[in-house]
Amino acid sequence: MRILVTGGTGQLGSAVVARLRAAGEEVRVLSRRAGPDVVRGDLRTGRGVDSAVAGVDAIVHCATDFRHETTLARTLAEAARWAGGPHLVYVSIVGVDRVPLGYYRAKHETEQFIASSGLPYTIQRATQFHGLVRTLLAGASRLPVVPVPRISFQPVDVRDVARRLASVVLDDPAGRVADFGGPEILTAAELAAAVGEVSGRVRRIVPLKVPGETFRAYADGGHLAPEHRDGEITFREYLAEHARM
Ligand SMILES: NC(=O)c1ccc[n+]([C@@H]2O[C@H](COP(=O)([O-])OP(=O)(O)OC[C@H]3O[C@@H](n4cnc5c(N)ncnc54)[C@H](OP(=O)(O)O)[C@@H]3O)[C@@H](O)[C@H]2O)c1
Repeated sequence: MRILVTGGTGQLGSAVVARLRAAGEEVRVLSRRAGPDVVRGDLRTGRGVDSAVAGVDAIVHCATDFRHETTLARTLAEAARWAGGPHLVYVSIVGVDRVPLGYYRAKHETEQFIASSGLPYTIQRATQFHGLVRTLLAGASRLPVVPVPRISFQPVDVRDVARRLASVVLDDPAGRVADFGGPEILTAAELAAAVGEVSGRVRRIVPLKVPGETFRAYADGGHLAPEHRDGEITFREYLAEHARM
């Protein structure tokens, strides 16, 4: 199959590209920057998008923009319609309809747009990536006392999510499919302790209750998928690999 991966230069997208190429698929990457095996295009302005989409059988849409999420999808869907309607796979986040964060609202709106676009589609939601959780808790390797919110995460490795996406894109369009979650649910305090241990600096971690409806939604586990512990690579395994790099 000929598959376009938008955001193929990003965290998840690059793992999807590697996975699909290893499986022998013909992969095209859309990026705003020039690079090897890249079709240049911009999903905000539409520049180059028609040529990127021309002749593909499917698209894995991993490109994202915090402020223009729906615009990117609209531009892509418009070009995809003209290109004969390839299977469009959209990557979303577990709990976009439960956690009242602006970016999540935009992702939910984008899901709804794609579902009503008339294109054959699949929507795959995933929990937070290891890289994001590590960035959120980076203070655990620097500060003497580390305040963390009293919430849990279910971090997942992008290689595990890429395995699922490589499978759904080769399958028939399936609408919204089952969520994809990491192998473990751990408190932010446990995750921060792991970040501190790997950096060789054990810090005092102080869990705090954070006010506001967004944190209440997180504390209620709106972003978790406890019934879908699909990923295999744990947060500690990810940290150990990155400490060696
Ligand atoms: N991070 C998480 O924890 C998490 C969890 C669940 C789901 N997700 C979802 O997974 C997807 C991928 O996230 P990620 O963290 O891997 O993203 P990322 O590393 O931040 O990469 C973003 C990508 O979007 C591309 N992009 C941005 N604006 C663009 C534009 N105007 N035109 C074309 N390409 C554009 C960038 O490509 P260039 O810069 O090369 O143009 C880049 O490859 C997103 O939909 C995100 O919501 C993320």
